[in-house]
Amino acid sequence: MPDFSVEGKQVLITGGTGGIGGAFAKAFLEHGANVIVADLVIPTSGLDPRIRYASLDVRDSAAIEALAASVDKLDVLVHCAGRASREEYQPEVFADILDIHLVGNLRLANAFRPHLKSSKGCIINIASMYAYFGSPSAPGYGAAKAGVVSLTKSLAISFAADGIRVNAIAPGWINTALTRGAQENEEVNRKIVSRIPDGRWGEVEDVAGTAVFLASSAARLINGATVPVDGGYSVT
Ligand SMILES: NC(=O)c1ccc[n+]([C@@H]2O[C@H](COP(=O)([O-])OP(=O)(O)OC[C@H]3O[C@@H](n4cnc5c(N)ncnc54)[C@H](O)[C@@H]3O)[C@@H](O)[C@H]2O)c1
Repeated sequence: MPDFSVEGKQVLITGGTGGIGGAFAKAFLEHGANVIVADLVIPTSGLDPRIRYASLDVRDSAAIEALAASVDKLDVLVHCAGRASREEYQPEVFADILDIHLVGNLRLANAFRPHLKSSKGCIINIASMYAYFGSPSAPGYGAAKAGVVSLTKSLAISFAADGIRVNAIAPGWINTALTRGAQENEEVNRKIVSRIPDGRWGEVEDVAGTAVFLASSAARLINGATVPVDGGYSVT
């Protein structure tokens, strides 16, 4: 029978104090996993005592190596850290966005490959609808997310030699701090919602179940895939 359990698994979530990453952390915890959250910003209050928090900038290779050295076992690596900027036509900002989403992804995958090889674990990357559609206001974000889809395929093939699965989730429009501007702009908001067959913004909890599923052995034959979680946005 398919096994949907993630009980006892050790899960590292970058961007885990953010909206989607925070929901991932909660969902894994509720399903019996142990969670390490690594984020640029660790709040000073309201932390969950069941979680190990690590301050981490995913642009910093040495910091990632140090975190990897401090973790003895890992079953699931989720790269959920990210940001967008209104300045992405500036090459240095464009490069910074790629660094966080895409190069950071490779850094983490390389650093934790030995752990994941030992556990026959998996990686879950976070793409976006902008991997598929043009992003005129955030060209770096779009390029980075298209890159995440491609990197997911390449790593899936390469890491299969070590028994590691690599997949991605492409969330649609999800209600977080990242999308506050779009939600508050009446015209943009109307355009977005009218194109979503489900007719609503996604909530972070809507995305979390897919991460738990991909991490479970019920998803053992899923490799190199990017799963849209978008209320049907990408099929319209
Ligand atoms: N919200 C959406 O609609 C949506 C849609 C598609 C994809 N995504 C992706 O989902 C992921 C999470 O986004 P969110 O909506 O929860 O946004 P969020 O802003 O709530 O969370 C992003 C988190 O990433 C952290 N972060 C940013 N730069 C970092 C760095 N250099 N090192 C470590 N941590 C860093 C932030 O501190 C924050 O906690 C991102 O990759 C985003 O691109 C979001």
